[in-house]
Amino acid sequence: MSTQFELMVISGSASLQETLATLDSVALISVPTTARALSLLDGDWLPGAVYVEDTLRGTLDDVWAIVRAAMRRQVRVVVNLQGRGAGRASEFQAAGATVIDARTPDAVADQVSKALGTRRRAHSEAIMVAVTAVKGGVGKTLLTAMLAEGLRQRGVSVLVIDNDISNSGIRPTFRIPSTAPTYTGLLGDGLGMAAWTPERLRSCIYQHRESGLDFLLGPEEMVEAIHDLDSKNFYAFLHAVRQLSGYQVLLFDTSPEIVRRPAPYIVGREGGWLVLPAPPSRKERTGVLNLLRALRHNPGDDLTGRTLLVGMEPERGVVSSLSTALPLFAREAPSARLLGTLVHDPRTVSLADAGEQGYRSPLTVVPHGRFARSVHDIVDALAHEIGLTTPLAKPRSTLLDRLFRARPVAPAGVAMDGRKVAA
Ligand SMILES: Nc1ncnc2c1ncn2[C@@H]1O[C@H](COP(=O)(O)OP(=O)(O)O)[C@@H](O)[C@H]1O
Ligand SMILES: [Mg+2]
Repeated sequence: MSTQFELMVISGSASLQETLATLDSVALISVPTTARALSLLDGDWLPGAVYVEDTLRGTLDDVWAIVRAAMRRQVRVVVNLQGRGAGRASEFQAAGATVIDARTPDAVADQVSKALGTRRRAHSEAIMVAVTAVKGGVGKTLLTAMLAEGLRQRGVSVLVIDNDISNSGIRPTFRIPSTAPTYTGLLGDGLGMAAWTPERLRSCIYQHRESGLDFLLGPEEMVEAIHDLDSKNFYAFLHAVRQLSGYQVLLFDTSPEIVRRPAPYIVGREGGWLVLPAPPSRKERTGVLNLLRALRHNPGDDLTGRTLLVGMEPERGVVSSLSTALPLFAREAPSARLLGTLVHDPRTVSLADAGEQGYRSPLTVVPHGRFARSVHDIVDALAHEIGLTTPLAKPRSTLLDRLFRARPVAPAGVAMDGRKVAA
C-alpha cells in the first residue's frame, strides 16, 4: 500500500480542494492565508509538498515568501501561475519550484498529480452537455428529453442527470416511478462529501426500459435544504459522475436558479457544452440575452464558445419571431452556435403525454412529423458541434413518409383513442 503524504494547499477555492482530494495517497492540509502557511513552514511539522497559486488576494511577494520558506525547509513546492505571475515561470523555476499553468480545478489536479508523481482516478471520456436557461417553462426539460432520445436513437449511450432538483421535469416526462432511487438520497446518509463516489452513484442509476436511457434522479418532491447541492457538492458529484464508465454523453437538465445552483457554469468550465433553448418572445428573449452576457463574462473563461442555441419556435399567434431574435443573440454572443429550431408542436407532445399505456416518446408517437424531424436535425447538429461520432445514421423520412405517415402511430395493440384492439 502506498503511504500517504501531506499536501499543503494555499488557495481560497473550495472546488479546488475537492478536486485535489481525488489524488491518490495524498492528504490535503488546506491553509487559508499566507501568514498561516509561513508559520507552519517555520515549525516542527512539515508537509510533503506545498501547492500555491498567484491568484490569492495578496501580492506576488506572498507567493515568493511561500516558495522561499518551502525551499529553505527542502519541501517540494508547486506554483500555479495564471494571474499576476504569468510570464514569470523561469524565475520560479530557477528558485527550485515546479511551475504549472492550469485554469480549471480539474486541470490543476491533473498537473499537480503529474508534478508529484501521484495518480488520479481517471475520468471517462464522456462529453458533458448541460441544457440551461434562467427562466422556467422555456422548454429545457422537453429539449433535454428530446436530445437524450434523439442521441439514443443514433446508438449513443446517454446518462441523463436531473439537476433541476427543486422542480424535476424529468420524472413526470419519463413517467419515472416514485420508488426509483435518487442521488440526492446519498446526502441524507450522513456521509458528507464522501457520498460522491462512482460506486455509490452507480447504485443510484435508474434504467428506463422504455427509452433505453439511464438516469441519475433528484427528488420527486420539492427539495429540502439537506438534499440540495451547493457548488462544492456539485463539483464532487460531477467528478464522480465523470468516473462512471459506459456513457458517451452526460446530459444535464439544470435549474433556472443559476446563481444558487451554478451547475451549468461548472459543466462549462470543466470542458462541457451548454445548450440554451432560445424562445423569441420578449421576456424569454431577455432571459437568453442575460444568460449569454453572464456566460461571456464568466471570470477567466468566456463560455459562449461552448454555448449552443436552439431556437424555440413560438406558438401560433405569437408575433415575435426567431428571425428577429436570433440576430440579437448572435450580437450578444458572436461565438455561440445555432443548432437549429425546435418545432412547436403541442399536439404531438400532448399525445405522447396523455397516453394511458405508459411512457411513449413524442419521437415514436409521430415519427415522421415536423417535430420529430426537427429533433433529429438538432441532434445531428449537436453531435457535429461536440465532435461525437454516432454509430447510427440520422432517421430519414421519405416524401411518402412525410405525406402519409406524419400522423400519430398507435402503439401495438392499442387504437389512438386508447381502446385495446386485437393484435
Ligand atoms: N416545442 C414545443 N412543442 C410543444 N410543447 C412545448 C415545446 N417546448 C416546450 N413545450 C411545453 O412547454 C412546457 C414547458 O416546457 P418544459 O420543458 O417543462 O420547460 P422548463 O423545463 O424550461 O421549465 C411543457 O409543457 C412543454 O411540453
Ligand atoms: Mg424543467
